[in-house]
Amino acid sequence: MSDSIPISVPEHVAIIMDGNGRWANARGLPRSMGHRKGVEAVRETVRAAGDMGIKFLTLFAFSSENWRRPEAEVVGLLGLLKAFIRRDLGELHRQNVRIRVIGDRQNLQGDILPLLIEAEETTKDNTALTLVIAFNYGSRDEITRAVASLARDVEAGRLRPQDITPALIDARLDTAGIPDPDLIIRTSGEERLSNFLLWQAAYSEFIFVPDYWPDFSRALFASTLKRYAARDRRFGALSASQTAAVGS
Ligand code: IPE
Ligand code: IPE
Ligand code: MG
Repeated sequence: MSDSIPISVPEHVAIIMDGNGRWANARGLPRSMGHRKGVEAVRETVRAAGDMGIKFLTLFAFSSENWRRPEAEVVGLLGLLKAFIRRDLGELHRQNVRIRVIGDRQNLQGDILPLLIEAEETTKDNTALTLVIAFNYGSRDEITRAVASLARDVEAGRLRPQDITPALIDARLDTAGIPDPDLIIRTSGEERLSNFLLWQAAYSEFIFVPDYWPDFSRALFASTLKRYAARDRRFGALSASQTAAVGS
């Protein structure tokens, strides 16, 4: 690949794809056009992530709170996700992409759930990029379901409270088996998590970019990775240079 690729490529990048509506409004277009254009940015980003050697890419597609939007917008967003899977699943499979879906699967209406399951099943043995689609996802909901599942095990006598560890909680989350995100990117200038990966983001680096999601590009992605590579991640300990200074 090109020599502009940073040395320290994050294993897992998670993206809060925000600003579709504002992108459209700025052009006098309906919000739905922003969502449509956003799908193109998704395609480009997935390809770029694979090329850059990222192993996990999580995309926040629809939150557990996005049902609060007007019904027409919700229907439009679900339609775009379904169309994306129908149209792109074959190509993603050819690219050796494995698809995982996180979020609550209970009470999903219509043909969305079978499609999500088909995407996971078709690609389950692929070994290049893992594309994690966060759909009907909210971190508090995810943690609540994990805690309830542990409580059921305690009630049934299969688990003792003193044996509950962070690793055990990890294993009950929708993201079980997926490493924590190294980098979380949010587009559109908003600087909040909006109920995304609260547990998993404990030591993530955050990069907020002002660009709206439909304008996200390979070049912008590469520039965020460059910023990430310059970060000093310590995980509560000391960095190599700090440790050297202590010794001197
Ligand atoms: C992101 O864009 C897409 C989803 C949340 C599904 P928005 O629809 O939130 O766009 P803004 O934030 O209103 O501009
Ligand atoms: C977060 O964006 C959810 C997704 C990107 C799918 P929102 O646009 O829903 O977040 P808020 O409401 O501005 O916090
Ligand atoms: Mg938004």
